[in-house]
Amino acid sequence: MPTKTNHRPAVLMALAASAGLTVLIIVGSRNLDGAHGQNHPEIAELRDLFKALSDELGAHMMKEESVLFPYTIQMEDAARNRRALPRPPFGTVANPLRMMMLEHEDAGALLRQMRRVTADYTIPPDACISYQTLYQALDAFEKDLHQHIHLDNILFPRAVEMEGGVVS
Ligand SMILES: [Fe+2]
Repeated sequence: MPTKTNHRPAVLMALAASAGLTVLIIVGSRNLDGAHGQNHPEIAELRDLFKALSDELGAHMMKEESVLFPYTIQMEDAARNRRALPRPPFGTVANPLRMMMLEHEDAGALLRQMRRVTADYTIPPDACISYQTLYQALDAFEKDLHQHIHLDNILFPRAVEMEGGVVS
């Protein structure tokens, strides 16, 4: 079962992939928009959706890294050393987790919209190599993000359970 320790690299990879791909995809889609925008207005729509997704993910990952994971580490240390933790400023870990889950749903909705406007990333017959590369990158990005959400869904209930044992 994944723990905080082996979940973290997946999160960091997703964050790095998100930052790197954002530049690649926004620049790439802008170039494609110039070359294919007349025949494929969906490229501009796709870029706007991806921009919204990457903005949301950047904030989401930041919260996980700066609040959630440090608190999870504190809880693990407290459990290992059999000491109690004071209640955190956010009341209970269930509160930020609920927010994270809502953000996952928002991200999932944006991913579905991206699939819809691209007909499931179907490469059109007049597509150039950059066009194909963009769709392949987005398809891979979607898989990475689903993996992140899957691992969070395993980790989150464990965090709630652990908190019950260490927070007084
Ligand atoms: Fe997450």
